[in-house]
Amino acid sequence: MQAEIGLVGLGVMGANLALNIAEKGFIIAVYNRTWATTEKFVADAGPLATRIIACRTMADLAAAIRQPRPVIIMVKAGDAVDEQIKSLREVMERNDIIIDAGNANYHDTVRRDAELSMTGLTFIGMGVSGGEEGARHGPSIMAGGLESSYRRVENVLTAIAAKYKKSPCCAWVGTDGAGHFVKTMHNGIEYADMQMIAEIYGVMRDGLGMTASDIARVFATWNAGKLNSYLIEITAKVLATVDDKTGKPLVDIIVDRAGQKGTGKWSVIEAQNLGVPATTLEAAVAARVLSSMKDERTRAAGLYKIKRKKLLPKSKTALIRQLESALYAAKIAAYAQGFAVMEQASIEKGWNLPLGSIAAIWREGCIIRSQFLDLITSAFRKSNGNLLMTAAFSGMMKDNHTALRKTVADAVLIGQPVPALSTALAYFDAYRQARGTANLIQGQRDYFGAHTFERINESGAHRGNWTE
Ligand code: 6PG
Repeated sequence: MQAEIGLVGLGVMGANLALNIAEKGFIIAVYNRTWATTEKFVADAGPLATRIIACRTMADLAAAIRQPRPVIIMVKAGDAVDEQIKSLREVMERNDIIIDAGNANYHDTVRRDAELSMTGLTFIGMGVSGGEEGARHGPSIMAGGLESSYRRVENVLTAIAAKYKKSPCCAWVGTDGAGHFVKTMHNGIEYADMQMIAEIYGVMRDGLGMTASDIARVFATWNAGKLNSYLIEITAKVLATVDDKTGKPLVDIIVDRAGQKGTGKWSVIEAQNLGVPATTLEAAVAARVLSSMKDERTRAAGLYKIKRKKLLPKSKTALIRQLESALYAAKIAAYAQGFAVMEQASIEKGWNLPLGSIAAIWREGCIIRSQFLDLITSAFRKSNGNLLMTAAFSGMMKDNHTALRKTVADAVLIGQPVPALSTALAYFDAYRQARGTANLIQGQRDYFGAHTFERINESGAHRGNWTE
């Protein structure tokens, strides 16, 4: 019995991915640093155990797999990946393929790809989204690296990936770090989506004084409409959950301090490096940081003691409809930013990222899966460029931006922070402004630094006759 593929690292994600592979009919060889973990994994695998080859050593693992041997590494991103690569190099041969399926920083993937190419091995940096459940039953897979190596594992990857109307949510998106770059941008958009939802929840909770279960019902209703998505679906479920210990809504018991592992931050660092405004993604990362400053925020609340006002709408139903459209408009702006970052990266890194296919493989399996991504898929299949310039999304933005404007204004007036929603609106307003205010900045730069400016009526670089 020869394995089609190998896997190193039987943590939660690795174990679920391995079971998914076995379930799809492939023989898989598995290795974990601790043998007891491997034994337990096989013991718990039930009937799938017949398709699993448990290996005590890396050498056993290599010997078990059909050549050229693909091996997925699913360990914590960072040094652990380099350690596993080092050990695999000792047992693998020319043309064998190492696949890093963790949330790697794409710069590490580029480095690892270059290092391995010198040894005759090849490398695939593969973004996998969908959490534990996705890994087990169908994740979204964004692969980058040598295309011929991807073709060797394509049958396995497309079999285990989520399906959108029978089409696998798995694609090769470009060379070296492209897959992990795309996953990073997925996570940046995920942060923005989550933050915008949380802000709308805040308007309902603090502005309208609604209970968690009332808000849960609103999100559940929205999930049947244009906002239909996994994140809206789970938001409704999270809000509806009751705490066993207190009988109160669980969300009211959870401390308002958000964690983060770094991928959202990387997405905005890359946006900045590429010179692409991704203000809503940035706002989402900053909001998590601010949320973590709980003690300082509590002290500031005591210092300012500004009473939060309530929204007193003529019709609560109309206001809730407005919030739905506001969230939709902001979502368009956030996705426009995320995709614009990928488009620029594609040009600068020569990846030729297939934006339409990326949107397509995010329609199922991943955390940001939604109907909305099907509209993005169609838009990018017609042409690339900023989403806000496409016929479909410009139409939707025209229909929904007023609701976003009113929502941001309402929130600002009662002192309710909506940083992601307001930057989404500001991005849209600045993006559609033919004459902005940077003429003044150019004047200031020339005044203090002789940086020169362009004139509207003459070509070339000019200086001002500034007077003291
Ligand atoms: C996914 C998720 C997953 C994880 C991220 C975000 O696509 O399945 O993005 O990769 O949830 O690491 O985690 P943090 O919120 O902790 O940064």
